[in-house]
Amino acid sequence: MLIVKSLIGLVTAVATYRMFFASQENSAEYRRNQIESVFLQSWRDYCKHGWDADVYKPVSKEKSNMYGSTDKPLGWIIVDSIDSILIMYNSSTANKAQFEEEFLRVEEWVTTKLDYDIDVHVSLFETTIRMLGGLLSAYHLSKEMNIGNSSVFLEKAIDLADRMMPAFDNTPTGIPYSSINLHTGASERNHADNGASSTAEFTTLQLEFKYLSIITGDTKYWSAVEKVYRPLYESNRLLGHYGGLAPIYVYPDNAKFRGNNIRLGSRGDSFYEYLLKQYLQTRETLYYVLYRASMEGVKQHLVSKSHPSNLVYIGEKEYGLRGPLSPKMDHLVCFMGGLLAMGATEGLHISDARQQPFWSTQRDEDWALAQDLTYTCYQMYHQIPSGLAPEIVVFNDQSQRKSGTRQWWKSSNGDFYVKPADAHNLQRPETVESIMFLYHLTKDQKYRDWGWEIFKSFRKHSSLSCKSSDHDCAYTCMGNVLADPPTIADSVESFWFAETLKYLHLLFQDDVDLTKVVFNTEAHPFPVVKSLNLRN
Ligand SMILES: *[C@@H]1O[C@H](CO)[C@@H](O)[C@H](O)[C@H]1NC(C)=O
Ligand SMILES: *[C@@H]1O[C@H](CO)[C@@H](O)[C@H](O)[C@H]1NC(C)=O
Repeated sequence: MLIVKSLIGLVTAVATYRMFFASQENSAEYRRNQIESVFLQSWRDYCKHGWDADVYKPVSKEKSNMYGSTDKPLGWIIVDSIDSILIMYNSSTANKAQFEEEFLRVEEWVTTKLDYDIDVHVSLFETTIRMLGGLLSAYHLSKEMNIGNSSVFLEKAIDLADRMMPAFDNTPTGIPYSSINLHTGASERNHADNGASSTAEFTTLQLEFKYLSIITGDTKYWSAVEKVYRPLYESNRLLGHYGGLAPIYVYPDNAKFRGNNIRLGSRGDSFYEYLLKQYLQTRETLYYVLYRASMEGVKQHLVSKSHPSNLVYIGEKEYGLRGPLSPKMDHLVCFMGGLLAMGATEGLHISDARQQPFWSTQRDEDWALAQDLTYTCYQMYHQIPSGLAPEIVVFNDQSQRKSGTRQWWKSSNGDFYVKPADAHNLQRPETVESIMFLYHLTKDQKYRDWGWEIFKSFRKHSSLSCKSSDHDCAYTCMGNVLADPPTIADSVESFWFAETLKYLHLLFQDDVDLTKVVFNTEAHPFPVVKSLNLRN
């Protein structure tokens, strides 16, 4: 009797023990802690071996600066990471003191070392979304969380923005050239593509410069970035000729499109993103009208389904709207699930959004498409041997493929292919970004489970030497995700810290109110503007 009883006791104890750990792994708090650990390991490796360089290689531990700057760094990784540190600091239950320490380290560096008087040409677009965006959200969050001296970030943001402002005065159209010298103020055309700018470059500056106008009360930043749209919509070419879509190159001197290549991947993506986000930030209805036209264009011209499983994807129109749809989709396009979901709901839970006067058939379609695309993007991880998505996939549209296809990797159901040259993974954020939005707009647990699966694949495959000692653990991009385990590359992008790990952390936070915040294209959060009170 006694033996039976203690056996039962033992079995119960083991079951309880297992249930405890299973439920612990499922708890949002446990998962946040794990994401925080990875952030801290990756960050400390950078601090130890790469500080304060813009470019860092976690395998060889080599470092250098952006745009060939030899004297000073731009703070590429540091500035991009500040608000992730703050967001984790604010909600951490296990690592609060560590994040506070890291915040104080970066604040000190920004105060005493960061100097944008650098004689080098920088990309206006990249520097705006990463550096200006990072400083502005650091200002906003440190102020709101009452930590550190937020003026430090604002002062640097104003200095940087003022150094970039001459770019907007160089052309009759107001469309800036691609790069600007932070010391001389001279700007330069894109060296490739016959001098044309990427459409997404000059249409992805607005949230940052407008927010700076809102904080400072000085309208000059706002006016400069608003001007660039006028040539695009005044001639009605966007809404008319291209069905709300825009070719990916524009000549800055006369605002004419170069070629007819239309896609939502690189050079096109954040043009669409900032149409909606400007509306969400300031409620200017013009931008919602343009966004609506674009999304109808996307649905009419670019959306298709794979064979045989009907995975919904967004293809490309390389030869204009009348040309064939290429079934190629960049991982970059995976931001579209989150964008469409935010456009449909404006940040409200879906069941509340459906009750609003703004709800419509078009929004209903957008919402369905948001869910379908996010599912496809999840499958781009789930079906790959290592559990990590490649940079680009080609969907099976049942057309006859040219020679060379035999070398392409094919998914088990045959829905998509990966070319060997596209099999790398840069630890990009777009899929977990969409998953984060869809979770908070639905509270459907499946999204957290997808995000957790992706996080575990990143942790497993992109980490180096984590087994020996926690403190010497680095994370890196991967060369070939079709191999299991994938081959390792030697680089870490600033968006790993700024976006991928931040969106994963937000996925497992409980009180994220998406009606109050708008994320720039580098995941830097700005508050939604309540009222405009600008000096003229
Ligand atoms: C910081 O944490 C508090 C308490 O959990 C929360 O109410 C607040 O929204 C958080 N702030 C931000 C900006 O996340
Ligand atoms: C905060 O930073 C600003 C800008 O650098 C500086 O002028 C001010 O003295 C600082 N305030 C404190 C309390 O250190």
